Amino acid sequence: MGKLPDYNKNILCIGAGYVGGPTMAVLADKCPDYRVTVVDINAEKIAAWNSDELPIYEPGLTDVVKRTRGRNLFFSTDIAGGIKSCDIIFVSVNTPTKTYGEGAGMAADLQFWEKTAREILTYAESDKIVIEKSTLPVRTAQAMERILHSRDNGLSFEVLSNPEFLAEGSAIRDLENPDRVLIGSRDTERARHARDILVDIYARWVPRERIITLGIWSSELSKLASNAFLAQRISSINAISALCEKTEADVTEVARAIGLDSRIGPKFLNASIGFGGSCFKKDILNLVYIYRMYGLEECADYWEAVVKINEYQKRRFLLNMLKAMFNTLAGKRICLFGFAFKAHTSDIRESPAITIARGLVAERAQVVITDPQALKNAKWELAEEISRNEVTLVYDPYEAANGCDAIALMTEWPLYRELDYREIYQSMRKPAFIFDGRNLLDHRELKEIGFQVYPLGKPPLTTDGGFKP
Ligand code: UDX
Ligand code: UDX
Repeated sequence: MGKLPDYNKNILCIGAGYVGGPTMAVLADKCPDYRVTVVDINAEKIAAWNSDELPIYEPGLTDVVKRTRGRNLFFSTDIAGGIKSCDIIFVSVNTPTKTYGEGAGMAADLQFWEKTAREILTYAESDKIVIEKSTLPVRTAQAMERILHSRDNGLSFEVLSNPEFLAEGSAIRDLENPDRVLIGSRDTERARHARDILVDIYARWVPRERIITLGIWSSELSKLASNAFLAQRISSINAISALCEKTEADVTEVARAIGLDSRIGPKFLNASIGFGGSCFKKDILNLVYIYRMYGLEECADYWEAVVKINEYQKRRFLLNMLKAMFNTLAGKRICLFGFAFKAHTSDIRESPAITIARGLVAERAQVVITDPQALKNAKWELAEEISRNEVTLVYDPYEAANGCDAIALMTEWPLYRELDYREIYQSMRKPAFIFDGRNLLDHRELKEIGFQVYPLGKPPLTTDGGFKP
């Protein structure tokens, strides 16, 4: 038996984003005997992590960071120093969809990933465990290993796959109480030793039976497959919602009926204007690309349809708005309730609200956007539209809806259920429309107030027998 490396208890995470930041904060909280450093090339982001105003909004995150920062959690831009001093390195840099060359619009752009591998090789002075935290194409670890071993420097690098399954808005809860933790490794003595160190770290707070050790390729692929399955469920129920609108069936009733089958289960069956977020679309397109690379065209087409239905659902919602409002939106004021891609986050990446806002602007509507957390990001995303006075951002929902012809609910923030819709109705132009893209509101009550109510995947509740989808 060869001598196994003796790794120190310094953990580094490269990439201080939505995944790296919260994950390391919880890890530091649960493992006070480890020193955890999070580094990023973005100095502004690191400064924010070191301030009272964290770069992302995530319920419970501030408390965990306050408990750990300066104790055994540190944020820094010193990537080289971090690599030198830490033997356990998580890599959580982004892997966006490629925008150029071969595979543009489909494949994962691995340039940051490769650059990071080369940085680790350049600065490493001791043996390392390198852990893939980012979602990656299956077999990326092989490329990582080849880069790390491309120099004969006498050091050993063990690459593990430990994909993150947290959902934004519930990141801290998900991290503290995960359904499962995957740790993928090769089947060598050194790899198993590295794997066991990571298992012991998680075992501080995750029950052993939920820590799954598996082959490295299975681990990489499980992450892509999980996201594809989750997104597929949403596209499935959204496809059902389109048929409900034609047939006077109610998608909420249908979803409940389906979900009561214990083989299907009730979660993740909420019809919506479409899924958003940084992962689902990117990961499915990546999966589709990998299938095509292996010549598995039929499977590629199957998964690609999940993304196509999602695009269709957004277009359909917009078209329903147009038809309901007398086939013209020009000059109308339309208020979007919510801009984040889901509730309890400030994140707007791939938010369906972006597509809806731009679609409304293309119809020459005046768009007013309100959101409790995401307006700062909306300001960046829609800078051009804002400068042309096509879009305005208003924090207060009552003020935002004032004088509007319609409200379109984009994000299921609970606060939108609590508003005084009588007061809102009074302040709007008549007929006043509500399009509920999340089926969050009390549609009967809204109709009684006088609104023309268009839920998603259910018959509209109109006072004047208006357009039926
Ligand atoms: C991202 C991907 O979206 C996800 O698929 C993957 O699993 C993990 O990385 P997220 O944390 O949400 O998830 O991304 P983001 O918030 O963009 O964070 C990535 C961070 O890496 C950014 O702060 C970026 O500045 C940093 N980065 C990127 C580096 O530090 N070095 C680089 O070379 C590139
Ligand atoms: C997802 C996965 O859930 C997580 O495991 C993975 O690590 C990253 O990608 P996230 O994108 O943060 O997490 O949020 P999620 O709760 O999955 O929601 C994604 C999108 O689907 C949101 O736009 C949400 O509103 C939408 N959604 C979700 C629906 O439209 N209907 C549903 O029933 C559930």
